[in-house]
Amino acid sequence: MVRIVYLNGEYLEETKAKVSIFDRALLFSDALYEVTSVLDGKLIDFNNHMKRLDRSMTELNYPRKLDHEEIKLFHRELVRRNNLKEGIIYLQVSRGKAERSFDFPDPDNEFTVMAFSQVKDLLNNDAAKKGIKVMTLEDHRWGRCDIKTTQLLYPSLAKSSADRQGFDDAWMVRDGHITEGTSNNAWIIRNGTVITRQADNLILKGITREAVAECAKELNYKIDYKNFTINEAQNATEAFITSATTFVTPVIRINDLEIADGNPGMFTKLLRQKYIKKALEIAI
Ligand code: PDD
Repeated sequence: MVRIVYLNGEYLEETKAKVSIFDRALLFSDALYEVTSVLDGKLIDFNNHMKRLDRSMTELNYPRKLDHEEIKLFHRELVRRNNLKEGIIYLQVSRGKAERSFDFPDPDNEFTVMAFSQVKDLLNNDAAKKGIKVMTLEDHRWGRCDIKTTQLLYPSLAKSSADRQGFDDAWMVRDGHITEGTSNNAWIIRNGTVITRQADNLILKGITREAVAECAKELNYKIDYKNFTINEAQNATEAFITSATTFVTPVIRINDLEIADGNPGMFTKLLRQKYIKKALEIAI
């Protein structure tokens, strides 16, 4: 089956979808994106992804917003046309095609809006069952990691570097404190408290993070939004990551040290189950 993608109002076979070489996404990474997970052919937490997209657009002075209903429509249409049961829809909005100049183009410039589906085993995969190993690396990203832009070269470099060294991902570190994973939020549990970094300009405030925090509260766990060091993470009783593509995935090793006995933590497993159950209930 040929994948059908969305580009500026049209549904096209993936090989037929073409974007200009002058697109601001290509020349300046002047583009924002969202990744919405799909379970049972339904969108998870779509409205919150749209709220974050609006915020990203405001922070980067995009001159107007997109209509959420229209975006929902083409997300659903991509799910339908590609018969997607489990996976993700990737959405990207750029400031559009314009002559190369460091100035922003005219506010009336047409945005480039594109989206595509990817099939992924979100529910049953090795990482969820066995946990992942992460290494720590300096966080060399820019100072506005709270905006979901396509400037992803450093996270990609970090992830590949981790892969090459036998790890599944990297947790990035600034001033001795973990910021987040290359494409996920980082969490630990210490003394019965669930800890994740405060949502400042150095991390992306994950949509999954918010939903998982609610689940943790419902399970009567205390949450502390605060910085933690590599050493604190290595000595945690449990560690995990969250994102639209990993949900809640256990971390079983950080650098050369196992977390507790080196197996996925009990609470992490419980949290994953609860998150998935709730996500399915609210899926649209
Ligand atoms: N990444 N932090 C970073 C740097 C991310 O790129 C992501 C998501 C998250 C988690 O956000 P959310 O829970 O809203 O997915 C945190 C997506 C999945 C990606 O780039 O593919």
